[in-house]
Amino acid sequence: MGEALITVSNDKCTSCGICVHVCPAGVLSMKDGFPFPRHSSSCIFCAHCSAVCPEDALNHLGEKTGRFRLKTIEKDNPQDFYASKRSIRHYTTQKIDTALIRELITMAESAPSGHNTRKRQYHVIDDAEKIEQLEKITADRYRRILLWLNPIVTGFLSVTAPRKARTISGDLQALKRLLSASDKGHGPFFRHAPCVVVISAPKKQRSGQDDCQAAMHYLMLNAHRIGVASCIIGFALFAKKDLQKHLKIPKNRRIYAVFVLGYAKYQYQKAIYRSENVNSEY
Ligand SMILES: Cc1cc2nc3c(=O)[nH]c(=O)nc-3n(C[C@H](O)[C@H](O)[C@H](O)COP(=O)(O)O)c2cc1C
Ligand code: SF4
Ligand code: SF4
Repeated sequence: MGEALITVSNDKCTSCGICVHVCPAGVLSMKDGFPFPRHSSSCIFCAHCSAVCPEDALNHLGEKTGRFRLKTIEKDNPQDFYASKRSIRHYTTQKIDTALIRELITMAESAPSGHNTRKRQYHVIDDAEKIEQLEKITADRYRRILLWLNPIVTGFLSVTAPRKARTISGDLQALKRLLSASDKGHGPFFRHAPCVVVISAPKKQRSGQDDCQAAMHYLMLNAHRIGVASCIIGFALFAKKDLQKHLKIPKNRRIYAVFVLGYAKYQYQKAIYRSENVNSEY
């Protein structure tokens, strides 16, 4: 038997359940008052569980095997700044001041764009009801994808393209988990964040996707600098046409980046260094 995915110091653990709550892959659950890796094979080694623990009670196998290294965050350490930027999936209800969002967008426009065209447009949605509609529209799109992936299609693929069928089967499970979370009102797409930002560019702009993604990363890092958390919502891009219609974004534009902003519900105690196994050539 392999080594346990996580080990928990029972004398330090207060059974707060935060590690279970932040795990994006549903790996952990509480058992006899302590976190337990119920679905170890789903772990994506993000290290959130260990980095967030307020009691330093959870050790993850990934640290032992060099997949990542955790370090206490030093406020003025520039490397810790990057290593402490997390994809946050739980937010407080506190709204972000509109002036602050404007400032972040202004700074994001320092990001490069092909031929310096700077044709990006930022669509900010910070009304809880409107965000709920985006959540529903995205979930509905996923429901339609699930319908399309019916047993006839997957059965046909398992004979004609077994490898593809296996990949789809994994995706199908993830899709079902997302929709089940959606049915329970957990908001698995937009995470009940107080602000959603969509960035679009003209359809004919060849660098549109790179332009929008560059601006998104500038904005998220700058937000992190002032204590505003964020998360890329790649899932939403599968519903981009539905979202575009709903947001009345003109047809001559395309959505290339979607992310959320807000104030993190849980504070991460440690920075996560993933650079030990960096794949580079010189
Ligand atoms: C292209 C892209 C799409 C992503 N989409 C989502 C998403 O839809 N939902 C989500 O919770 N996280 C999403 N993420 C965040 C990753 O899951 C996250 O970066 C990874 O788990 C590592 O965690 P960290 O960013 O806190 O280091 C996305 C990241 C990228 C780069
Ligand atoms: S976050 Fe830490 S203290 Fe809280 S349940 Fe998990 S291991 Fe225990
Ligand atoms: S490393 Fe990430 S995916 Fe794995 S158990 Fe911890 S929080 Fe969950």
